[in-house]
Amino acid sequence: MCGIVGYLGKRQALPIIIKGLKRLEYRGYDSAGVALLNGSLEIVKKKGKVLDLENEIGERTLDASVGMGHTRWATHGEPNDKNAHPHTSTDGKLAIIHNGIIENYSSLKKELELNGHNFLSDTDTEVLIHLIEEIKVQNKCTIEEAVRLALNEVVGAYAIVVLSQDEERTLIAARKGSPLVIGIGKDEFFVASDATPIIEYTNDVTYLNDKEMAIIKDGNLVVKNLANVVKTPFIQKLELDLEDIEKGGYPHFMLKEIFEQPKSIRDAMRGRLVSREHHLFMSGIDQYLNRFINAERMLLIGCGTSWHAGLIGEYLFEDLARIPTEVEYASEFRYRNPVIRDKDIVIAISQSGETADTLAAIELAKSKGSLIFGVCNAVGSSIARTADAGAYLHAGPEIGVASTKAFTSQVTILAMMAMYLGLKKGTIPLNKFQELIHGLDSVPDKVSKILAKGDEILEISKSFYKASNFLYLGRGYNFPVALEGALKLKEISYIHAEGYPAAEMKHGPIALIDEDMPVVFIATKDSSYEKVISNIQEVKARKGKVIAIVTEGDTEIKQMADFTFEIPSIADPLVPLLAVVPLQLLSYHIAILRGCNVDQPRNLAKSVTVE
Ligand code: F6R
Repeated sequence: MCGIVGYLGKRQALPIIIKGLKRLEYRGYDSAGVALLNGSLEIVKKKGKVLDLENEIGERTLDASVGMGHTRWATHGEPNDKNAHPHTSTDGKLAIIHNGIIENYSSLKKELELNGHNFLSDTDTEVLIHLIEEIKVQNKCTIEEAVRLALNEVVGAYAIVVLSQDEERTLIAARKGSPLVIGIGKDEFFVASDATPIIEYTNDVTYLNDKEMAIIKDGNLVVKNLANVVKTPFIQKLELDLEDIEKGGYPHFMLKEIFEQPKSIRDAMRGRLVSREHHLFMSGIDQYLNRFINAERMLLIGCGTSWHAGLIGEYLFEDLARIPTEVEYASEFRYRNPVIRDKDIVIAISQSGETADTLAAIELAKSKGSLIFGVCNAVGSSIARTADAGAYLHAGPEIGVASTKAFTSQVTILAMMAMYLGLKKGTIPLNKFQELIHGLDSVPDKVSKILAKGDEILEISKSFYKASNFLYLGRGYNFPVALEGALKLKEISYIHAEGYPAAEMKHGPIALIDEDMPVVFIATKDSSYEKVISNIQEVKARKGKVIAIVTEGDTEIKQMADFTFEIPSIADPLVPLLAVVPLQLLSYHIAILRGCNVDQPRNLAKSVTVE
């Protein structure tokens, strides 16, 4: 949801900002813009991608060592040039970029209009810069003070950067609800929505907390809260390599991330699973072991793909640790007056760690006394910092908008948690625990094996890329995999796809089946294998086209299905970690064959920091 970059130092700001915006483009790509400050404010902005902005800038030399840039995911106002950020004040001397939503913008706008402010865009952001201007004029104060006072008046979420023509070597940034990280180099400072624009210049960063401002001025960084109390910033070292955020020879980030899974799954287990000794170490759980053992209920919350990982978590916790578990969309949970008890444990699952609905749901649960356990990828993210304890995925940055490696890492963490609790509670016998440890340890190699024959999926894709609808069916642990497969397909290829528990098909979706309907079955050899075979037959009887993900050596389904793809055999609770991989590849190849932009699908953004 919008990416922002700021720079103040001694180098040329424009190349740093443009490069940073390209790294943040996953956050939104409706328009892009820059403001450079060198005597006066120079602003260039354009509908479309950062490349369109670069073309607009053309040969112009925007010589400045202070500046900022923005890549937009539209909320208020359609994606066009005039709604692109930066936005300016009436006198043109102040400029702002913003990620978030100013909820009371409409009432503020009315007041400001009465005071003679003219608005050029339909955005909420423009209202904020006019409010800052109004306060600055009325109070005859510095830009720093005007921003602070204005932020005390706004309701909503923001990460902002503000520049003022009258205070040339000053850059003000602030956040509430939207992420913001400050990079501290030698005589230079960087501001960004995440650390990727900063990594090649400095490893020293500080993450602003909610309702904090950073004032970068006279070569210094001062952090204060909105009540004007100065805070000591916590400076930390980034653990991120440049190659993690580049495509490394792959045509798309999504494909790179799919192929990274043997490593990312291994990294999720690193330091936690010691296969030789049949040990698991889960320090985040150990911190609160009694609460976990005595938990009356687990509540798993997340959105989209993270919610699907949560559904698998539900099966795992109930199956292995016998803890009653519920899974909730964070967006529903936060608004429906849920029953939350202090003996509940809330597990918040989020790749970005910034999803606004998940964050709000955590805050609600926290206020009722629940223990919050975060399963996040982005280190230092808001959710990771809000949680009482947690387990990082260590999957490295996920840049493709469609989540792939984060999903398998989330499931790996949830599997280890359930196994660990099962062992501690005595709900799984030692031999089963050991079998699962070996199973989990074998997952990276088995995923590599699947990836090595990814071309089979390309061939299957060629037969179906023109389809208008898809159905994905699975049972037990494979039902959430069906949902995830359908989500992957719809979000990057724009083909309508639905996931269902296979047995539900006869309660409605079967009416959709005809010779044009491809049906993907996740039909591995598990306890519901025979039942799934019956479901396949029901589809074939209605002339549906069946693509089946089956266990290596399966002969029965091969005779019925139009296409099969084999995956290695593994214990039932771990099947999703393998079965999802061909589905990720299926959606990738279909989207490419349809000419879609897989890394930046329309209307989407990677990090959903608005409600
Ligand atoms: C789908 C996808 C989204 C995210 C969802 C939650 O491929 O990426 O559905 O899973 O927006 O995001 P996080 O995990 O960052 O909270």
